[in-house]
Amino acid sequence: MTQYIGKPLNRVDGVDKVTGKAKYAGEFNVPDLVYGYVISSSITKGKIARIDTADARSLEGVLEIFTHENRPKLAWFDMSYKDQNAPPGSPFRPLEDARIKYNGQPVALVVAETVEVARYAASLVQIEYEEEPHETDLQATKSKARKPESGLMSLLKPPPPKPRGNFEGEFNAAPVQVSAQYVHGIEHHNPMELFVTTVVYERNGKLTIYDKTQGAPNSQLYVSQVFNMPFSDVRVMSPYVGGAFGSALRPQYQLFLAVLAARQLKRSVRVTLTRQQMFTFGHRPATIQTLGLGASADGTMKALYHDAISETSQFEDYTETVVNWSGMLYPPENVRYDYKVVPLDVYTPLDMRAPGGVTGISALEMAVDELAYKLQMDPLELRLKNYTNRDMNEDLPYSSKELRECFRQGAERFGWSNRNYEPRSMRNGHLLIGWGMATGIWDATQGPARAEAVLMVNGKLRVSSATADIGTGTYTVMTQIAAETLGMPVEDVLFKLGDSELPLAPIEGGSWTVATVGSAVKTVCENLSKTLFKLAKNMPGSPFSNKSFSQVEFANKAIRLKSDPAVMVSLQTVVDSNGGRAVRETSTSMPNMLKQRNYARNTHSAVFVEVQVDEELGAVKVTRAVSAIAGGRIMNPKTARSQIIGGMVWGISKALEEESVMDHRFGRFMNHNLAEYHVPVNADIHELDVIFVDEVDTIVNPLGAKGLGEIGIVAMPAAIGNAIFHATGKRIRELPIHLDRLLS
Ligand code: MOS
Repeated sequence: MTQYIGKPLNRVDGVDKVTGKAKYAGEFNVPDLVYGYVISSSITKGKIARIDTADARSLEGVLEIFTHENRPKLAWFDMSYKDQNAPPGSPFRPLEDARIKYNGQPVALVVAETVEVARYAASLVQIEYEEEPHETDLQATKSKARKPESGLMSLLKPPPPKPRGNFEGEFNAAPVQVSAQYVHGIEHHNPMELFVTTVVYERNGKLTIYDKTQGAPNSQLYVSQVFNMPFSDVRVMSPYVGGAFGSALRPQYQLFLAVLAARQLKRSVRVTLTRQQMFTFGHRPATIQTLGLGASADGTMKALYHDAISETSQFEDYTETVVNWSGMLYPPENVRYDYKVVPLDVYTPLDMRAPGGVTGISALEMAVDELAYKLQMDPLELRLKNYTNRDMNEDLPYSSKELRECFRQGAERFGWSNRNYEPRSMRNGHLLIGWGMATGIWDATQGPARAEAVLMVNGKLRVSSATADIGTGTYTVMTQIAAETLGMPVEDVLFKLGDSELPLAPIEGGSWTVATVGSAVKTVCENLSKTLFKLAKNMPGSPFSNKSFSQVEFANKAIRLKSDPAVMVSLQTVVDSNGGRAVRETSTSMPNMLKQRNYARNTHSAVFVEVQVDEELGAVKVTRAVSAIAGGRIMNPKTARSQIIGGMVWGISKALEEESVMDHRFGRFMNHNLAEYHVPVNADIHELDVIFVDEVDTIVNPLGAKGLGEIGIVAMPAAIGNAIFHATGKRIRELPIHLDRLLS
């Protein structure tokens, strides 16, 4: 039995957040802080011919205007600009020269005593450009697609597996075939918190930086390399993050600009990007996919083809895993994949919640639904018919895979068996009702991480690691793991994160934080418990003098004998006996490769969705959805459910609303604000139901937990598209499914 793990603990940081005590990067105030305002390029490609800052400089309160003309010499090699999430290529360098590589590129930073003066001064800066023709349209350039460069990132984002079997032959011979193209547009992460960096210029020239980031050590690495500063002079803190979804996996240009200004002016500087400038860096890339599925008449999948063409920038090769998932979910033996990119005059795309996964599976799971209709089979039955316990790409068994149970429980909760098979058969007046389903899969990865645990002189426990909490619940789950391991009430445990001075952890992403940092927290607390036992055993008159560690347990803030719980020593007594000093341990935890390498490790989901489509207006409402998740051990059902609900809402958004629309004549996003960049509001969200099926996994990591940050979104868009087909008989292969696409 566990005391804390698996319990729906409220967020330990909840009160601080709702009372405003939790401080975000733009809320750390220091005396004499000055403010930077970024000027964005209004052209897409070319160069700055002339930049006139005289009028702006003459304004009272303006301190400096940084442009490519007065930018100091900084690091030369691309390597220095590479952060932990940098794809192959040459990272963008703000203000490096007169060249313009994409629309919205930062071309100047105005620094003034107030935000208002900085912003006004920015409007007085006059820039003349020499424009060159640009290319931003993926559809128009897809014939130029080429293989991406592969780099270190390919460890986390494997390229498509080699072909196997004989796709052409088996596909052509298959009596039932589906072959179709699926497209989805660009999306921009739009967390509520804007991108902001506050740089505190310390008296000795050291920097304390409050940055919006998914990894304080990543920003520290970037700043120290680019500005050639020792690590010890750069401290990055990020205790709270107001949403990120992947957008803060890489340092963004406001960090560079704020540090540049602080060092040149020898003052504390804050740079906040505007909402419109949130559309001037990474985004989920538009992707064009082609799926081919061949099956025998009984529904057995024989041949599979999955091809994707995606965009990247002219300076880096961003890739994501789009097509590989097909061979992980389905078992055909004749398979071919292809994945290519087209460099465009845009900023480098960036990981966004389930990068590649939701992209690939949206297309795959709509194609599988199409196959079910060609076979005249129930879509769930078709998936059960082609169920696999092996990842066919790697030819490895899954460490655990309770997807069958997800199908069973999800279908039962939803009432799938009451579905009429025929499209357009479930009408309610002018509303067409549709039921659709889809399968999801995502990685369950663990990386290396360090953590520290300290039993303090007041008897409380402080545990720390330089990870991040982007709203996912890291503070809470880590507190639970520490409390559980050392038998302490959660009130006596303080977990610290978001500080580059803490023990090193990787960027928070890929749904790996519970597995990665949680394992480090577990390990360090276990090590601390051994140290505490040794101290207790060596105390004069210790009841444990002839006992071994295996004979004791930690509970109620004490060490006690398993065989006789009345024999105990309180942790306070142990720390008191340590000569007035806290007891501390630091540990590293690494994935157990020997154990893991013979298994594929993934989360799975089954999603069932009901939509109502207004036949005259084309308006779609997702009236209810059930997500059944196989995510290993659920550390905290409350924060876990929130993760899945968040993913489901985003799935609705991706299926029906969200798209960054570019005017290719200008190479600029037209709807770069939250009024025109559509996302669901409360009125768009109805019944969302989450089921966690039991899944025991002793391979995946010491906690048996799989990450839940991304699996919630993966299957939603396809399930919605499939439900819309069922409601209307119209197969829309382009996301988002806007009403004009339904009315045409
Ligand atoms: Mo997530 S896109 O790995 O932050």
